[in-house]
Amino acid sequence: MSKKRLVVLSGAGMSAESGISTFRDSGGLWEQYRIEEVATPEAFIENPKRVLDFYNHRRKQLDEVEPNRGHQIIAELEQRFKVQVITQNVDNLHERAGSTQVLHLHGELTKVRSSKHPELIYDIGTKPIHLGDLCEKGAQLRPHIVWFGESVPAIDQAVPLVSKADIFLVIGTSLNVYPAAGLIRFAQTKCSKYLIDPHPVEVPFGMNFTVISKSAGEGMEQLFERLKKDYCI
Ligand code: OAD
Repeated sequence: MSKKRLVVLSGAGMSAESGISTFRDSGGLWEQYRIEEVATPEAFIENPKRVLDFYNHRRKQLDEVEPNRGHQIIAELEQRFKVQVITQNVDNLHERAGSTQVLHLHGELTKVRSSKHPELIYDIGTKPIHLGDLCEKGAQLRPHIVWFGESVPAIDQAVPLVSKADIFLVIGTSLNVYPAAGLIRFAQTKCSKYLIDPHPVEVPFGMNFTVISKSAGEGMEQLFERLKKDYCI
């Protein structure tokens, strides 16, 4: 029998137990920084150094953190399901846990791109970028991150993935940011839907999610047992 398609939509809560702050929880990143100062195209024009420093700091943090149990179970599930991860996270913890199909909606910290030629994208790992670091055509490099006010090109790839899911898991996202949050509406009625988050998250009326009110690690342990039983795997 062919493997069922399991699609995961993850957010910042997925990486919280690895030590990466979420955005909107108390003590979250958007309490420490103003979005308009570090995560918009205007901020990069007005004060590029501040923006580069913000992402340099977050990129460097990747050297200090490890995938958690939640990431690991999602990677292990590839042995039993056709797993596609769609993440709003810009860290690389899904990949480092072993997930092979990861679509980053909001970009990736380990990549930079030309500020004038968006097709010029470079892997830089966890190294910093500075003012004066240029692409091969001489334009300043910028983080390969989707800032507020910018389009989310990967959404076009994400929609058909969600609409074909047999099982859809939403984990660690407050569903505050669109178009990512709107993806859940593309899950079919017959698709089994799960939501893992320790705090209440609003989902559209009538969408039948089984809610597991736990952290990512514990919640994934619970879901794994349930899937094993439900799908006899
Ligand atoms: P948020 O910070 O908005 O939401 C984090 C969610 O994780 C909340 O629902 C928390 O309850 C939950 N959470 C906290 N600890 C958790 C844990 N240990 N296990 C599981 N869940 C936990 O983050 P996102 O929804 O990911 O975009 O935010 C979406 C986007 O807004 C981000 O990608 C980022 C941000 O601005 C950009 O920077 C473009």
